[in-house]
Amino acid sequence: MNKPINLFEYESLAPQHLSQMALDYYASGAWDEITLRDNRSAYEKYKLRPRMLVDVSQRNLSTKILGQHIKMPILIAPMAFQCLAHPEGELATARVAAELGTTMVLSTMSTKSLEDVALAANVPKSLWFQLYVHRDRSLTRALVERAEAAGCQALCVTVDAPVLGVRERDRKNQFTLPPDLELANLTSMANLEIPETENESGLLTYFANQLDPALTWRDIEWLQSLTSLPVVVKGILRGDDAIRAVEHGAKGIIVSNHGGRQLDGAIATIDALPEVVAAVGNQVDVLMDGGIRRGTDILKALALGAKAVLIGRPVLWALAVNGETGVRHLLELLRDELDVAMALSGCANIENIDGTLVN
Ligand code: FNR
Ligand code: LAC
Repeated sequence: MNKPINLFEYESLAPQHLSQMALDYYASGAWDEITLRDNRSAYEKYKLRPRMLVDVSQRNLSTKILGQHIKMPILIAPMAFQCLAHPEGELATARVAAELGTTMVLSTMSTKSLEDVALAANVPKSLWFQLYVHRDRSLTRALVERAEAAGCQALCVTVDAPVLGVRERDRKNQFTLPPDLELANLTSMANLEIPETENESGLLTYFANQLDPALTWRDIEWLQSLTSLPVVVKGILRGDDAIRAVEHGAKGIIVSNHGGRQLDGAIATIDALPEVVAAVGNQVDVLMDGGIRRGTDILKALALGAKAVLIGRPVLWALAVNGETGVRHLLELLRDELDVAMALSGCANIENIDGTLVN
């Protein structure tokens, strides 16, 4: 087999390595998947305005997020259940993030415990923890304390999921975890598992039963009071919400619609980004995710004011195709695309990517 040459080739190889239930779960968006498609197509509207005759012989992709250096402005988005793709699951993803000098955001719903993932990363600096706030606040507090104790560098609170979005393929499949996988952060501590539900996704049922739909901005302050880690709010799509997040103590914002998996019809993230940057971009780091598949997508996002992007599904495709080696190769492909795109637009480093580069 020839090595994949871009992210789309990993996507087309992945189905042969995944069960139908896992493939549908990974690929799905909510309802008609309009937002899922828009997240991709929206990049095409933005046109690059490259600068010529700039010395780009020495290029540097490193940047700073929350005051910490990373070697490229590409983080790995939190994604549940990575052992559905490969037996090493989250451990493989964490090793790659550490090796390449970037950050993996580990999901609350991981199939390896956060302590084991932190050990695998060997550089806990490369790990943030993504928090789902459970109705059981003592459980939630324990998760935050464990993340901090394990060395995670930030707490990423996902705010776009008071209930789970309806992914109809998961409903048809009655999605649940196979018997050999578990909610590694939760089963041991609270005996929680993904149920089997008739004519429904077990994950949707889990969210309905366990997660707190009454979460408000005040809880962001509560979370900040539990930890010395910076709180990053994930799932913001409006400038006024971004201002509220900052007022309630957030140190970072991730513009995200959860990869089109929550509210279908929600605005594409690249379209939402400028408003959020205009509102709070000079106060906190604004990141974004959704549909990033090419180096030029990253260039556009950075030109529109994002400090970095996160990638989601492609990591799962590469993990399914070739485990840790696949994920490393995938990230290298994307990094190298960004490097070429920067050279071709007259940017030797990340600071050179400014708003005039895009319209
Ligand atoms: C996700 N996402 C997600 N987000 C989160 O905050 N916690 C989670 O546990 C998960 N789980 C999850 C599982 C799967 C299979 C997918 C595809 C996505 C959303 C994720 O962090 C991110 O916002 C999107 O995936 C980004 O879009 P792309 O890159 O997949 O288009
Ligand atoms: C998802 C949840 C777990 O998108 O965030 O499936």
